[in-house]
Amino acid sequence: MVFNTSIRYADDELRIDEVDIESIVREVGTPAYIYSLPRIRENFQRLRSAFAPLNARLHFSVKANGNLDVLRALSDAGAGFDCVSGGEIYRALRAGAAAEAIVFAGVGKTRAELAYAITNGVGWINAENIGELDHIDDIAAERGAKPVLVALRLNPEVTAGAHPYMATGHGAAKFGLTAEVVRDVLSNGARYPNIDFAGLHMHIGSQLSEASATLSALEKLLALAIDYPQIRAINVGGGLPVAYRFGEKVAPPDRLASELARRLDGYDVLLEPGRAIVADAGLLVAKVLYLKRQAGHNFAIVDASMAEMIRPALYGAHHEIAPLRRTEGETVSTQVVGPVCESADVLGRDRQLPPLEPGDKVALLTAGAYGMTMASNYNARRRPAEVIVDGDRWWVSRRRETFEDLLKFER
Ligand code: LLP
Repeated sequence: MVFNTSIRYADDELRIDEVDIESIVREVGTPAYIYSLPRIRENFQRLRSAFAPLNARLHFSVKANGNLDVLRALSDAGAGFDCVSGGEIYRALRAGAAAEAIVFAGVGKTRAELAYAITNGVGWINAENIGELDHIDDIAAERGAKPVLVALRLNPEVTAGAHPYMATGHGAAKFGLTAEVVRDVLSNGARYPNIDFAGLHMHIGSQLSEASATLSALEKLLALAIDYPQIRAINVGGGLPVAYRFGEKVAPPDRLASELARRLDGYDVLLEPGRAIVADAGLLVAKVLYLKRQAGHNFAIVDASMAEMIRPALYGAHHEIAPLRRTEGETVSTQVVGPVCESADVLGRDRQLPPLEPGDKVALLTAGAYGMTMASNYNARRRPAEVIVDGDRWWVSRRRETFEDLLKFER
């Protein structure tokens, strides 16, 4: 069975690229995140080709996966980065990104973060508050920096996204600026002599299954852009969907790309995809600790939890679960749960899995996006190791945290 070009069963063992996953976790232990660089590069190239007719610049959304080796590989492949904090800018720069290839976004950037971004020379700031414009203008004046490129983020009042927590474009959301405010700022740009208002930005949500919501938001954005010739660049945000379920089909990016191309002629186009580049290149391996039969259910208690992967608990998200060793025969409906003291700590409900035994290992698939970046130390759990696979080579990119790490910041 083949999940994608990098993750498949061979001789009934789950492999990632040329490497047997069991052989990695035998050394590294569980839980562990494992990412395939070839798959990440392939996903990036697929998007790059799809959006080539627009000559679009792809800014990988660092919030999806901030691993330095992942960022380095993407930077080497020609990606720019979408960062939402000083910390993400720091990570991107440390991974070798050129500052001009960074867009700095976020609904609540501090003045210190803005100063850090401007001093380092980030390419764009996506602004979504009037107050931050004052900061940007002041900081640029203080440093004698050249005018800062700002893309105002429009809230297009379009509802989209796979879950209410992933919808950012509706009018009641905290994100973006109303069309009225955007117009006011663009008409009075002279108030901010150190800002070049050359762009507009939107991001209406994640796991956008249809192009229609994006296109109706874009229509509102373009209706606005047309009145302001200073607008040279349009940032369409992220949200390209991935398949989380076996057999699920998601629209390839080509259709959206050609729809965008028809509308965005003459503009510089930027995109901020996150999950579409990394999600299916990563998995989280866990070991079965115990089995128990209770209240008519078969529970498999594994050593990964909502602390390492919060998406099922937070969004009711579905991640397929695959045993590292595949066996023929009967499957049983299994509740795959973690050790954390929360009823929401369920990684998979009612999964048809071969009968598991303590010590067996399973992989939570499509875990390369918003897995480790959203991991916490809840229950004083140590965040897991991150392993990189590149063809037949693999290495520990970030070691598992230790007990000492847990105390590091306390006196
Ligand atoms: N640009 C902006 C302004 C964003 O807010 C986001 C995601 C992206 C780009 C990237 O979106 P993507 O292409 O990865 O869908 N933690 C969640 C979803 C919330 C994402 C927030 N913003 C998850 O686990 O699904």
